Amino acid sequence: MKSLITGCAGFIGHKTCEEFLNKGYEVFGIDDLNDYYDVQLKLLRLKTLTSKKNFTFKKVDVTNKNSVEKIVRNFLPDIIVNLAARAGVRASILNPYIYFQVNTMATLNLLELAKKYKSKKFIFSSTSSLYAGQKMPFTEILPVNEPISPYAASKKSAEVTCYTYNYLYGIDITILRYFTVYGPWGRPDMSIFRFIKQIDEGKKIIVYGDGSQSRDFTYIDDIGKGTFLAKKSLGFEIINLGSDDPHDLKEVIRTIENLLGKKAEIIYKAFHPSDMKSTWAGIEKAKKLLGWTPAVSFNEGLKRTVEWYIENKKQISRIQI
Ligand SMILES: NC(=O)c1ccc[n+]([C@@H]2O[C@H](COP(=O)([O-])OP(=O)(O)OC[C@H]3O[C@@H](n4cnc5c(N)ncnc54)[C@H](O)[C@@H]3O)[C@@H](O)[C@H]2O)c1
Repeated sequence: MKSLITGCAGFIGHKTCEEFLNKGYEVFGIDDLNDYYDVQLKLLRLKTLTSKKNFTFKKVDVTNKNSVEKIVRNFLPDIIVNLAARAGVRASILNPYIYFQVNTMATLNLLELAKKYKSKKFIFSSTSSLYAGQKMPFTEILPVNEPISPYAASKKSAEVTCYTYNYLYGIDITILRYFTVYGPWGRPDMSIFRFIKQIDEGKKIIVYGDGSQSRDFTYIDDIGKGTFLAKKSLGFEIINLGSDDPHDLKEVIRTIENLLGKKAEIIYKAFHPSDMKSTWAGIEKAKKLLGWTPAVSFNEGLKRTVEWYIENKKQISRIQI
C-alpha cells in the first residue's frame, strides 16, 4: 500500500510518516520547507525519516498543481494524507491569502487528483479552532459556521469542499479535527515548545490573557496513531482527535517549571480576540469508528517532552523562536 503525505517535514507530518512506514507502507512525503518557522527544525525532523526504507521525499509546493500531479501520476497513492498547511491563528490575520491558497485551494487540487488517479482514501487535517463559540465538550455534530480567524475559515472551506467531493465522486474522506498537539519535535510557534525552551534559557515567556485559558493538549504519538487509523474506509466522517482532558496554561507553566527545576518569568499581554478561551474534545466518534483512545496523559506527555528537550538541547538551542 502507498501513501502520499503532504507536510511531511511538519510536526504531525513527520510522526504520521513514521507511523505509516512502521506499518509497512510505502510513503512519498512532500513539503515546501517554507520559513513560517525555523527551517532547521523541519530538516531535523526530515532526517529522522530519510534513512528509512520505503520513504521518498520531494521538496514541492502543494499549491503547484502540475508538480503535485506529476508525483501522483507516477506514485499512484492508495491514500492521500493532506497535512500541509499554514497553521497558526494570529499569523493568519496578517496574511489571510496564503492561508486560503495552501489550506483551501491546495486541498481542492489534491481532491481533484484523488478523483483523477482514483486514490482509495483521502485524510484531511482540520482543527479544533472551528469550535469557537460552541458548548464544550465539542462534538462533531455541533454546527461550526462561525470561524473567528482566517485560519479556521480556510479549514472550514476545505472541510466543506471535502464533503462535496465525497458527495459527487464518492471519494472516501475522513476529516480529523486535531486538538492542540504537543510533544517532541513540536512547533516553535506553540506554547509548550516555546515555554520549555525559554524557561530553560532564562528568557521571559509571554502569556496572552491571564493564563486561565485551557486547551485539550494532545500528545503527538496519539495523534500519529489516530491519523494512521483514519485510513479506514468510512465514507465521509469528521472525527475529533483530542485528549478529552483540558488543562490551563498556568498549570502547563507550573508543570514545566517543576520538570526543569526553574522558575518562569512571565510577561502578560492582552488576550487576542481570535484566540479561544478553552477547548475540550468529545471523542466518542474516534473511539467508536477508529477504535482510538488517547494513551498518553498530560503529565506523562509533558515529562517525555521535557526529557526530549534535555536530550536534544544542543540542536534545539539553535532553533529560532
Ligand atoms: N499542531 C496542532 O496542534 C494542530 C492542531 C489542529 C490542526 N492542525 C493541522 O495539522 C496539520 C499539521 O500541523 P503541524 O502542527 O504539523 O504544522 P507544521 O507547520 O509543523 O506542518 C505543516 C507542514 O506543511 C508544510 N507546508 C506548508 N505550506 C506548504 C506548501 N505550500 N507546500 C508544501 N508543504 C507546505 C510546512 O513546511 C510544514 O512542514 C495542519 O494542517 C494543521 O492545520 C495542527
